[in-house]
Amino acid sequence: MNYNTEILSPTDENIEKAGRLLGSGEVVGIPTETVYGLAADATNPDAVSKIFVAKGRPQDNPLIVHIADKTDIEKYAKDIPEIAYRLADKFWPGPLTMVLPKKDIIPKVTSGGLDTVGIRFPSNPIAQKIIKVSGLPLAAPSANLSGKPSTTTAKHVYDDMNGRISAIVDGGACSVGVESTVISFSGEDVIILRPGFISKEDLLTVADNVIIDKGVLSEMSEDAVVASPGMKYKHYSPKANVVIVEGEYDNFLSFFEKNYSEGIYAMIFGNETNEFPYPHFSYGETDSEQAVELFNKLRMADEMNVKTVYVRCPSKDGVGLAVYNRLIRAAGFEVIKL
Ligand code: TXA
Ligand code: MG
Repeated sequence: MNYNTEILSPTDENIEKAGRLLGSGEVVGIPTETVYGLAADATNPDAVSKIFVAKGRPQDNPLIVHIADKTDIEKYAKDIPEIAYRLADKFWPGPLTMVLPKKDIIPKVTSGGLDTVGIRFPSNPIAQKIIKVSGLPLAAPSANLSGKPSTTTAKHVYDDMNGRISAIVDGGACSVGVESTVISFSGEDVIILRPGFISKEDLLTVADNVIIDKGVLSEMSEDAVVASPGMKYKHYSPKANVVIVEGEYDNFLSFFEKNYSEGIYAMIFGNETNEFPYPHFSYGETDSEQAVELFNKLRMADEMNVKTVYVRCPSKDGVGLAVYNRLIRAAGFEVIKL
């Protein structure tokens, strides 16, 4: 691992180049609408192993396979329930990953040893071009060092991956900002393994029953057998200590006043920044704005050597559930209720 990591603008020529690198078994950072991904040929065990090395990712944590044509789902998955097709029709291309029984063409290293594979058709046009040009299904986890906040710009990817991968395609800032919703199926029921931009409410427009897996909101021990292995690892954590503070604005302000000293910052909602008299980050007013800003602000906190960030608790509805799910992991499940 000692690459001269190139940042490629998304010209046709550079996309061809990314396609060639992927074809020859290299790892390339690619933009998607959610977060940047570390892509490699999902069918090539050596290429996929390089992703695990570059990220420092535990081997039992499966990767999502990215496709650029709905019908490709049948090349990599089998026993697909009818509900999966209806969800694909409504939400693909987009930030929805479906976990299905895998076909043999997907090696075990890609699926973290499981018999299932997560499949997603991203909506980002650059991601789609790269998948098409490579002619491959692309395994891609979020393009951060394992345990760190995900990356939503090419610069973030470079900060974590310089020297570790061959290239990064710069597609600008990601429009969604949190990772895809990961679901599995039990008959026609949908189970949310990881909340994302496609909310429970969205899924209920297609499915009759949507269940939120217990791993979404509670802490799982490292040796637990969980539906989504990613949910048990320390995640999304900046160096700064992150603490979620749940309560009204006035109570948050007096709590912060009592706890404030040098190196301590607040992370507050966009509409509160004018009145807040202490050092702070703003992470948007609506849940989708918070999703866009979250990882960016956690990374900024590290660049500024912030010691502790007290974060206003997001709503747990809609996209807010995804923001909350990432934050409680960044906070090591530390929530102060006022
Ligand atoms: O938006 C996204 O999903 C981004 C972009 C790059 O597409 N990718 C992403 O990948 O977030 P990653 O590897 O950082 O997170 C994938 C999550 C992990 O929690 C993993 O455990 C879960 O999805 N997952 C993947 N395949 C699975 C499977 N077969 N069964 C259960 N969980 C799975
Ligand atoms: Mg990740």
